[in-house]
Amino acid sequence: MTDDTKTGMRKGLTSYGDSNFSLFLRKAFIKAMGYSDEALDLPVIGIVNTYSGYNPCHGNVPELIDAIERGVMLSGGLPVQFPTISLHESFSHPTSMYLRNLMAMDTEEMIRAQPMDAVVLIGGCDKTVPAQLMAAASANVPAISVVSGPMLSGTHGAERVGACTDCRRYWGMHRAGDVDEAEINQISGKLAPSVGFCGVMGTASTMACMTEALGMMLPGGASIPAVAAERKRHAEAAGRRAVQLAAEGLTPDKIMTPEAFANSLRILMAIGGSTNGIVHMTAVAGRLGIDVDLDAFDRMGHETPVLVDLKPSGMNYMDDFDKAGGLRVVMREIKHLLNLDCLTISGKTLGEEIEAAPEPWPQNVVRPLADPINASGGITVLRGNLAPRGAIFKQSAAAAHLHTHTGRAVVFESIEDLTNRIDLPDLDVAAEDILILRNAGPIGAPGMPEAGYIPIPRKLAEQGVKDMVRMSDARMSGTAFGSIVLHICPEAAVGGPLALVQTGDRISLDVPNRSLELLVDDAELEKRRAVWKAPVSDEGLRGYRKLFMEHVQQADEGCDMDFLTSRPFTASTP
Ligand code: FES
Repeated sequence: MTDDTKTGMRKGLTSYGDSNFSLFLRKAFIKAMGYSDEALDLPVIGIVNTYSGYNPCHGNVPELIDAIERGVMLSGGLPVQFPTISLHESFSHPTSMYLRNLMAMDTEEMIRAQPMDAVVLIGGCDKTVPAQLMAAASANVPAISVVSGPMLSGTHGAERVGACTDCRRYWGMHRAGDVDEAEINQISGKLAPSVGFCGVMGTASTMACMTEALGMMLPGGASIPAVAAERKRHAEAAGRRAVQLAAEGLTPDKIMTPEAFANSLRILMAIGGSTNGIVHMTAVAGRLGIDVDLDAFDRMGHETPVLVDLKPSGMNYMDDFDKAGGLRVVMREIKHLLNLDCLTISGKTLGEEIEAAPEPWPQNVVRPLADPINASGGITVLRGNLAPRGAIFKQSAAAAHLHTHTGRAVVFESIEDLTNRIDLPDLDVAAEDILILRNAGPIGAPGMPEAGYIPIPRKLAEQGVKDMVRMSDARMSGTAFGSIVLHICPEAAVGGPLALVQTGDRISLDVPNRSLELLVDDAELEKRRAVWKAPVSDEGLRGYRKLFMEHVQQADEGCDMDFLTSRPFTASTP
C-alpha cells in the first residue's frame, strides 16, 4: 500500500525492506537524468504522455507537455512525464472500445505505482479521456484533465469539411456513385487538415465538453483548437493549477460527485453530443460507486434543449464553437438546469466559473434558450420487450418522420454478415424495413464497436434513400447521422431478446413514448429461445481477450470490467 502521508519522491517507495534505502536508490537512479537534490525535493507532478506515432489526434502532445511543464515549474513543482497506452480510433483493432478499459487500467496503475502528488492527464481522441477519468477516479490522486483540442476544419472546393462527419457523408456519396475514385482520394487529404481530435460534435468533442462540465478541466478547455497558441496557455495554466491541487489535496472524488455527473449529462444533451458520452460517463461514475440512472437521464433529455449547432446534427465545426465562446456560453444559457454549487478543479464552483466567463457576443453557433435547435431531448432512452435494460436513440441525428415507425425486420447476424450482404443487388429490403445488426455488443463483437451506423443498402442508396430505421447492440460514432437505435441491452450474444428476432418479424419504434417492441408473441419467443445457441465462447482464449470476455459488463453499466467498478453503488445521479 502507498503511504499517503509521504509526498514527492518519498511517495510509494519500491519495496526493498528498508525505506531509506529505497529512497536512496530511487534518487540515485533518477539523478542519472541530471536532477539536483533541490529539484527532487519539490512536489512531483506526473504528466500522462499519450503521444504516439499512431495517434494524429494527439500530434500536439509534445508541445502541450512543454507548456504544462513550464506551468508546473512556474509554481514550484517538479514535472515528470510518463507514457501510457494511447488509443486512436482508426488504429485500434478490433475497436478502440475494446482497449479503453486496458488504457484505464494502465493509467490507474502507473499513477499508483509512481511517485506523484498530482497528475495532469492529456487525452483527446475518443476513448482516451474516459479511460483517464476512470483511472483518476480509481487512483484518487489529485488530477486535472487537458485535451489535445479539436483539429481545424478544412475545405474541399468551396465546401468546409471536417473529420469525421464529412468522411461518412462523402463515403456515402461515393457508395451511391456520386463521387468518383479520383475525387474521394483527393478528399481524404482535406478532411483532417491539422493534428487534434475530430472537429465536429463527435465523441472526442463530447467527452471534452462533458469533462469541462464535470469540473475536471479548467474553464474553456474543451474547445480551444489543437494548434492555437491559447491551447498552450491553457496547458500551462493546468500545470500551474496541478501544483496547487497537490498542496490542497483536492482529489477527484471531491469533484466527481453525483451532482457533477448530472451536470455533465445535461451538457451532453444541450450540445447534441455523442451517444457514447452516456456509456463513458456511466463507467467513470461507476468507479466512484455512483449509478447513472438511465430513466433520470431520459427525464433530463425532456427538460434540456439542444442549443449547439454543430455537425453532425447542425452546420458548424468545433473551431466555430470556440470562437463563439465555447462551453461556458452553453452553460450560461442552461444554468437554471445545472448544479451550480459543484466544486470544479479551478477551486471555484461551477456557478462562479459561469459568472466569471466573458460577456457573450453575437454569434450563431450556440442558440439562446428561447430559440433552441430542439426544445428537448438530444438522446432518448427506449425500453420494451426488445430492450428490457434499455436502448439509446439520438433524436437530433435522426429524420423526424422515422421517430415513430413500424416495419419488417431484415436481420444481419454479425458485422461480417452485414459486410457480405448489405450491397447485394438481390437483398430483399425496402426503405420501410428495419435493418437489424446483432452480435455487435460488448461480448459479441467483442468490444461494442461503432458498427451501429449500418449503411443504407446500396440498391436503396442508389434510389435516393438517405435514412431508414436501423437497430443494433453496437455503438455508433458520434460523428454519424441516422435513425439508429443503439446499445440494445442486454446484447444478443448473451441471449438478449435481439438474439430472437427473425427476418420478417414486425418491430415497432415509438420514440415519443420511449418504446421499442418486437411484435412477436411470448410463446413464439420462448420457442426460439429454447433452440438459441450463444455465438461466442471464451474457450481457448488467453491474455487481455480472456479477461475482457469474462468481465466486461453491458452497455447500461458502461462496459467497464466488473472488478474495476465500485460496487455496491452508494449514490445515484439526481
Ligand atoms: Fe480521434 Fe476522431 S479519430 S477524435
